[in-house]
Amino acid sequence: MSDRSQTDRPGLSGTPSPASGGIAYPPVPDRLIGHRGAAASAPENTLASFQAAAAAGARWVEFDVKLTAEGVPIVLHDDTLDRTTNGQGPVAALCLADLKDLDAGSWFSADFAGERVPTLAETLDTLAVLGLGANIELKPCPGRTAETARAALAVAQRRWPQAAPPLVISSFDLDALAEAAAIAAQGVMTPWPRALLADAADGWTAALLIERARALGCVGVHLDDALASAETLETLRAAGLRRAVWTVNDRSRALALWEQGADAIITDRPASLLDKGDKKAGDDPVGPTGR
Ligand code: G3P
Ligand code: MG
Repeated sequence: MSDRSQTDRPGLSGTPSPASGGIAYPPVPDRLIGHRGAAASAPENTLASFQAAAAAGARWVEFDVKLTAEGVPIVLHDDTLDRTTNGQGPVAALCLADLKDLDAGSWFSADFAGERVPTLAETLDTLAVLGLGANIELKPCPGRTAETARAALAVAQRRWPQAAPPLVISSFDLDALAEAAAIAAQGVMTPWPRALLADAADGWTAALLIERARALGCVGVHLDDALASAETLETLRAAGLRRAVWTVNDRSRALALWEQGADAIITDRPASLLDKGDKKAGDDPVGPTGR
């Protein structure tokens, strides 16, 4: 576990609740994870977004990893380029060189024009410099599950410094988690802690989550807020599973979840949850290009 104090944070800091057993989620000692960086303040899943999260006081970020056509792990949420870049069509059809020509910032704000889709390697290098922990969400494009897990873990192994904060692997994709477990069992790579991602739309119960998380060797469950009842949080805690909740942008809801035993909150608005107020895009120089 990191030696960083979990009680030295502004806003959402404080004495760990009895419900959490006084134990922070080991890979997330600061109990707050910026979702896709700081997705409310900067274009999601870009280096600018990770810098914005750091500037807001976050110590951890979550981001989504999938592959280019030739198999390079990159950081992007959707299977298509349309929503978050000026490109179109499936990301899996594009090689890295062509992807790097795309603008991944203008859709969010003209202040971020020219922002690029980062590779996982570039992202990890940036996070290491910023001192941020990393929650890598494996989000494979259809048909590329095992390949995505293998490539992402290989990059993490090569690029994540031993002295950096721990790294957490999560996924909705059970086969991706199984592949990560198989790789960990081979003993040739760092066995990063893994978490099962649970969407309310998939009909999870606490019992099913426990069964599946244990079968996959996961140390935690990252719950859709709609699944995060006090009872479910307590059941998961009693089963020895760590508990993060996404995506929580309301400070009072975050405080309640902590009281109910959530170990970490995944948020688009780290500044708001840290009671510092979110900056609007362009208010502050947050991007790698000097914005
Ligand atoms: O990891 C939590 C959250 O990112 C999962 O949902 O769709 O935002 O990747 P999504
Ligand atoms: Mg995600």
